[in-house]
Amino acid sequence: MKTAAAGVAERVRGDFPIFRQTVHGKPLVYFDNAATSQKPQAVIDAICGFYTRDCANIHRGVHLLSQRATEGYEESRRKVQRFLGAAEAYQIVFVRGATEGINLVAQSFVRPRLWPGDEVLITAMEHHSNIVPWQMIAEEKGARLRVAPIDDRGDLILEEFERLLGPRTRFVSVTHVSNALGTVNPVNEIVRMAHARNVPVLVDGAQAAPHAAVDVRQLDCDFYVFSGHKVYGPTGIGVLYGKAARLESMPPYQGGGDMISSVTFEKTTYNTLPYKFEAGTPHIAGVSGLGAALDYVQGIGLENIAAHEGELLCYATGAVSTIPGLRIIGTARRKTGVLSFVLEGVHPHDVGTILDQEGIAVRTGHHCAQPVMARFGVPATTRASFAMYNTVEEVDALVRGLHKVREIFG
Ligand SMILES: Cc1ncc(COP(=O)(O)O)c(C=O)c1O
Repeated sequence: MKTAAAGVAERVRGDFPIFRQTVHGKPLVYFDNAATSQKPQAVIDAICGFYTRDCANIHRGVHLLSQRATEGYEESRRKVQRFLGAAEAYQIVFVRGATEGINLVAQSFVRPRLWPGDEVLITAMEHHSNIVPWQMIAEEKGARLRVAPIDDRGDLILEEFERLLGPRTRFVSVTHVSNALGTVNPVNEIVRMAHARNVPVLVDGAQAAPHAAVDVRQLDCDFYVFSGHKVYGPTGIGVLYGKAARLESMPPYQGGGDMISSVTFEKTTYNTLPYKFEAGTPHIAGVSGLGAALDYVQGIGLENIAAHEGELLCYATGAVSTIPGLRIIGTARRKTGVLSFVLEGVHPHDVGTILDQEGIAVRTGHHCAQPVMARFGVPATTRASFAMYNTVEEVDALVRGLHKVREIFG
């Protein structure tokens, strides 16, 4: 089957040098994209280019290299601004990843506003990084974490979410897309419901940014976070977007160089946005790589990527249903290309090990979403997650591999 989405994989495949290798003597089939995606040559070149041409610290030097490094860094910030549809570049804060973005908001925005008995509302499909930071501050402040339930398909029960938005709700933090189930949440609705009660909202976009166009002004969320490494960029770099008034109202998250405007032993005044939140030397090469990744993704077009991955998901969902004893976990009405499943009588770890022998990389385990596993009554799943370079032939290889697993385990 050839996908109608304009041969996206065919077009991009050659841009990813990692696919020029075999694994256990088989062509590499990489289906662990929700954990991290592979990098196109353009991203590798940008990182390499920074270290070979422009390597210097930023914002500090008058010399040419420092000026070039600073200009490259700020140009990437403007690229992220456009990628998210943010009004101003200073609303983009570079952090290590989605995890650090959430922790920054938890510590600097929510923690000072939280009193005993207050509540933070999340959903039952959150990644641990959108659970634990809230638990930490709730425990410290005597506040309560409330959890909106999901149904058997993995859809958020919106009426329950709305019911849980109470007079003590101080903050809502929800994932845009579930990493374990692929569910796409109705974030517009969620934001509208929360704002109707004056409750600010953070959207965790770690699994959304690589797969669909995001417009933070249209979403009207107060904060949005994502990680560079899932959107074909480098590890160790990510983004926090915030509404200007929210960011202005927050104290710095960390102290150090670059986040100050003046320092004496008596008093320090802080730098303006976004530098107030970027203490110390940042991941300059990573920012450069992220800028290149966003250029690359936009060159392909997120609508093309989404259409291609949607077709792969549809094809794969049908194809795996031929395997006896296979149950898909996560059948939400709106999904990205995440296929989580269990195979009766076989531990996911064994599924992953046998597939690896076939050159197929999948993720097995709880996917940093143990409460999701508990909700579906399974300790772990096997997860195949798709990216723009994956093909129908690779899905066929997965299905053959799963039949093999079935044969081995009877
Ligand atoms: C939904 C979701 N949120 C947050 C994260 C954390 O991202 P990172 O580890 O890059 O900070 C992940 C990573 O898998 C995720 O899937």
